[in-house]
Amino acid sequence: SDKSQETHLYVCTHAARDCRCGETGGAVFRALLAEVAGRKREDVKVREISHVGGHVWAGNVLSYPVGDWYGKITPADVPKLLDAVLSRTIWGEKWRGRGFLAPAEQAALLASAPSQPRPLAPLPARAKQDTSDRAYNVPLTFELWDGRRVRTQASLGESLMELCRALAEEGERAFDAVEGVCGGNLECATCHVYLLPPGVPLPSSPPPLGAAGGGEIEEAPPVPAMSEAEEDMLAYGIGVREGLSRLGCQIRVTRELGEWCERGGRVGVPRF
Ligand code: FES
Repeated sequence: SDKSQETHLYVCTHAARDCRCGETGGAVFRALLAEVAGRKREDVKVREISHVGGHVWAGNVLSYPVGDWYGKITPADVPKLLDAVLSRTIWGEKWRGRGFLAPAEQAALLASAPSQPRPLAPLPARAKQDTSDRAYNVPLTFELWDGRRVRTQASLGESLMELCRALAEEGERAFDAVEGVCGGNLECATCHVYLLPPGVPLPSSPPPLGAAGGGEIEEAPPVPAMSEAEEDMLAYGIGVREGLSRLGCQIRVTRELGEWCERGGRVGVPRF
């Protein structure tokens, strides 16, 4: 076919960071293939891609050459999505935006969309952080997937996710494993870390949840109990280990956490 007339649809099916894209994206990918084949549209190419950002919007579908991004697509949405893509209109309810356009231009386009425009809800604002004592330095120990231990100074009150992001930006790429895609809003599981009591090794090949070894863990980390919301979101993490795994955005640096590290506790960073 004339390649200049082709439409390309890319579906995020990346499952190694957060299983939502792998599960939903895979089903959407297969539904799109079937729909395109049923319509005999050889000019529409459907491909799997990885990690476009925004696990919370799974299934994520990108449409080119127009450059529209769609989110929260289900297999049942596929016919309507394809109608919008092929007619070069947008489906406002599922539209995440269009690359190459400024925010104001995208808003104007959404307002003129034929379907009832209802943009996806923005991420909620982050909870305000108590910064009254941030100058205090807390020594923390991280253990990286390759066995290295990193001692660092943390600010009282910052989250382990924020600290890992800062360390990644300072150049230690192993901390890239803690992405914090949703900014700490409990809408992803990409801030997964292990809290490793003294003597407990970093899970190198973590078994599934529930398969952790028995025995009471000594020197449990001095952190708040997991909320139901954290527990729900943690279930989407990769390599989750019962009793060791937490979401880094939910753990604040405290003096007690620093003292626990002095006694041999470590924050384990999963392998990317
Ligand atoms: S950063 Fe998304 S849940 Fe922690």
